This record gives sequence, C-alpha cells and structure tokens, in this order.
Amino acid sequence: MMNNYDKIARYYDRLSRLVFFKSQVNAQVHQLGHLPEKGRVLIVGGGTGWILEEIAKVHPRGLHLVYVEISAKMMDLSKEKMAGSPDGNTIDFLNLGIEDFTAEVPFDVICTPFLFDNFAEERAVMVFHHLDAMLKNGGLWFHTDFNSAAGTGEAGTSTENGNGGGAWWKAVFLTLMYQFFKLMGNVEASKLINMRPYFTKAAYKLLEEKYYYRSFIQGSVLQKTKD
Ligand SMILES: C[S@@+](CC[C@H](N)C(=O)[O-])C[C@H]1O[C@@H](n2cnc3c(N)ncnc32)[C@H](O)[C@@H]1O
Repeated sequence: MMNNYDKIARYYDRLSRLVFFKSQVNAQVHQLGHLPEKGRVLIVGGGTGWILEEIAKVHPRGLHLVYVEISAKMMDLSKEKMAGSPDGNTIDFLNLGIEDFTAEVPFDVICTPFLFDNFAEERAVMVFHHLDAMLKNGGLWFHTDFNSAAGTGEAGTSTENGNGGGAWWKAVFLTLMYQFFKLMGNVEASKLINMRPYFTKAAYKLLEEKYYYRSFIQGSVLQKTKD
C-alpha cells in the first residue's frame, strides 16, 4: 500500500513537533477559524487525529466530519483520541485511501493537511480533481503543505516567523525528508509538487495564506468558485 504511515504512527506527532516545533499544528489550527458552524467537513490524512480534538474546541457540535485515513494505525489512534469525548460532532471514520472514497452529498469544507507532499504528480493531480468534484461550489479547501519557494511569495500573505530567505535550505530539508520517508518505505513521492497551479486553473479564490517555520510551511484557505 502506498503512503502508509503504520510504521511511524506512534512516533509521528513527536517527530513532527521535534523537527517543526508546533508549526504544522499552528498552520492547521489557524484555519479552523474559517469553519462554518454547521456542515459537512472532509478530513483527508488527518494522522493521529489531534485535529479532531482541535475542531471540537472550536465547534463542539453541529458538524458532520468524515475522516478518511489510509493508515490503520493512525486510524486506531484517532478513534482512541475521540473515544472519551461526549457526543458532539458526528464523525465517520473511514480507513481507506482517498482514491477509493466517494460521497454522494458534497462537502462544505475539505482539509488536506500535509497530504499532497506524499504523492507523485500523477496521483496528486488525480486526487486534486477527485476532491474538487466532492466540494460544494462556494465551499472551502483548507490546504497545508511545505513550500519550497524562496521568501514568502505573494502580497497579502502573512508570516509567523520571518520570510525564510533563499530556497536552498528548503531544497536540502526536503531532500533529507524524502530520503528519510523512503528509508521508512512509506512515501511514494521523491519531490514536492506545487499544487497552487491546480487550484488557480480550477478557479479557486485564495481567501487567506499564512506562512510558518521561515515560510517552509504554508497554510492556505481557498474557496471554490465554479462547478
Ligand atoms: C504527513 S502525514 C500528516 C498527518 C496529519 N495531517 C498531521 O499534520 O499531523 C500524512 C497522512 O496522510 C495519510 N495518507 C497518505 N496517503 C493517503 C491517502 N491516499 N488517503 C488517505 N490518507 C492518506 C497518511 O497515512 C498520514 O497519516
């Protein structure tokens, strides 16, 4: 199975915090301010499920969350996390690859937190169109990923800690990360695919962009503007 995090599921959060401090968390938590009070939210590749606890803090009820995660171990951890929570939001846990998931009712929000960096370009494009088809017109896409570009990029964006300077150290960092994940045998990608051109081509409107970790991490809230 491609992109399976079973082997490192138990250590994933600690590893992420060790390397990126809380930047990956902050990028996702910040976006939750855009969640509607009611509606259907698709979370793809949520990992250990900490995002579910964060969503409950922002909106304890009213949401129907569909949580699609390919790793059985990550899924177990996510279910464990929510086991003690009182009934609030409805959560459907689906242990499968997003490629195999379809929904008859479209979503108000789709979250892809550090999902696309796992994919080779062909799969990334396929998954992008697959998800785009499941998002309502006017719906929001919370996209977080790595950013290999120098500086922060466009005007109207904000950074948490500096503009990041040149791209060289990001290229080195990404190479090391992909080598590590290749060694662990759980990621098919060997380079980062910039998904922005796909959003632009599909006429998504950028509502907010925020950078973290000297702009190596990027959180974007995009709105679908056409069917
Ligand atoms: C880099 S981790 C990010 C985890 C979490 N979003 C976070 O930020 O802590 C990527 C996650 O995506 C999941 N994943 C990878 N490919 C997937 C696919 N095709 N469908 C669903 N989940 C997938 C992995 O199992 C893993 O939990």
